[in-house]
Amino acid sequence: MNARSMMMSGLMAVVALTMGACAKELASEPTAMAAAPGPKSGKDIYAQWCADCHDPGPGHPGTLRMEGDFGAESSVLLRFPNLDAETVKFAVRNGFQMMPPFRVTEISDEELDRLAQFVVKK
Ligand code: HEC
Repeated sequence: MNARSMMMSGLMAVVALTMGACAKELASEPTAMAAAPGPKSGKDIYAQWCADCHDPGPGHPGTLRMEGDFGAESSVLLRFPNLDAETVKFAVRNGFQMMPPFRVTEISDEELDRLAQFVVKK
């Protein structure tokens, strides 16, 4: 196993863990689900799909990578300067280097619009 495939399997583990955590959350909150049908808010989508990798602090691979690429000032996604909605949408649908792409079944187009607005709004 080379370093890259080890890194990828590490990432997949993070993704799998995230999904496991979400499934548990959904199972234990049936009333919250029933009360909030339809598309989720940008903030909720961020918390569900992005926070594990992009929140501030150690243990977040997105933040770590972006610190290496862009410096500490620009390492936290929600504080990234001059980020536009199109870039966010492109990164989410296509993936970005180490970041996995997200499908419409995970984040709908409407939810992606909300997510992009939430991420670029400072
Ligand atoms: C499994 C971890 C992971 C998840 C989940 C993740 N990202 Fe990322 N993201 C990364 C990494 C790592 C990078 C840095 C890319 C690199 O240099 O490899 C990145 C980079 C980005 C960038 C920067 C693109 C640029 O122009 O530099 C954006 C925007 C972004 N992510 C948005 C999101 C959004 C929105 C979500 C939630 C839907 C998300 N990411 C979920 C890991 C993740």
